[in-house]
Amino acid sequence: MKKVLFVMALVVLVAASYAQDIKIGGIGPVTGEAATFGISTKNGMTMAVDEWNAKGGIFGGRKAKLIFEDDKGDPSEGAIVWNKLIQQDNVVAIVGTVMSKVSLVGAPISQAAGIPMISPTSTNEKVTLVGDYIFRACFIDPFQGTVGANFAYNDLKARSAAAIFDLGNDYTKGLAENFKKQFEKLGGKIVAFEGHPTGTTDFKAQLTKILQGKPDVIYIPDYYNDVGLIAKQARELGFKGPLVGGDGWDSPELVKIGGTAVENGFFTNHYSSEDKRAIVQDFVKKYKAKFGAEPDALAALGYDAMYIMLDAIKRAGSTKGAAIRDALKATDINVVSGRIKFDENRNPIKSAVIIEIKNGKQVYRTTVNP
Ligand code: PHE
Repeated sequence: MKKVLFVMALVVLVAASYAQDIKIGGIGPVTGEAATFGISTKNGMTMAVDEWNAKGGIFGGRKAKLIFEDDKGDPSEGAIVWNKLIQQDNVVAIVGTVMSKVSLVGAPISQAAGIPMISPTSTNEKVTLVGDYIFRACFIDPFQGTVGANFAYNDLKARSAAAIFDLGNDYTKGLAENFKKQFEKLGGKIVAFEGHPTGTTDFKAQLTKILQGKPDVIYIPDYYNDVGLIAKQARELGFKGPLVGGDGWDSPELVKIGGTAVENGFFTNHYSSEDKRAIVQDFVKKYKAKFGAEPDALAALGYDAMYIMLDAIKRAGSTKGAAIRDALKATDINVVSGRIKFDENRNPIKSAVIIEIKNGKQVYRTTVNP
């Protein structure tokens, strides 16, 4: 009897020491045109993994191991790191990536390999339509564009608007179209709708055309680098009205690049660190202590997306792709950016916030429910 017990104890011990880490791929642009996006996202993901591991792991004593790759905000880099994580590292799931244009390249790779993916922040509608293994932790641009247009028309009382967007970026182009559709539906007039090629730094040609139409507001659905430059040049050309944009504005760099030009600027976003809910304030406190910075929406969504994935793997009690996918579908969880349940296209239904740039700071204006 003693001997049997001894052998059993030994088996348990050996099994526990072999409890393998569960490898999760993380992807974000840590360098390139929107590097603050990747840094915040990586911080958020790391924090979620550390918390789960500190509580004893995901299931069966197995801890999560984050293998993070930089996609540089570039779709072809995205394809390389996606394949590397799946084929060389054998990750069981991917949390990533930030930009829709890169997620649109990664999603088909995940789908074909049967490796579930959740993008923290890619808002372009097409991303999750790639297939049943593809999820996201954020709202989508038809909603975000509608909220922006409603705000311009109802709150800013704009009756005419212009938009300027990046022709080579599905996110900025799609969001401009969604804004236009809703603004016109409300009875507003779009006086100019100007695309520019990716990599443009001198926007004066497009802006001159825009100003000829005398718009009440200019909609700039782009990432912070471009937004800062466009805002500056619009002000230089004499535009004094409000500027409106989307989640791509969310970076501490925006006011550094745009200076006073981004004052009288408003954008739709996923979360505000001023939100009084306990789960938000607890997150803000822990994040500040760990990283010495205020968490932006990317940090919150990186954290949330990882949290949602680890919760699904735990409920699946398995690292098989199909089992994780099924568990993801059944998600019902409260995270920093709200309550997550997925609709039939694997998109959560969530509210948006409107942020104003005032004296160089982000100020929370209001929350808009779907
Ligand atoms: N929504 C953007 C996209 O789809 C990414 C983004 C999200 C950027 C949140 C900043 C903040 O490309």
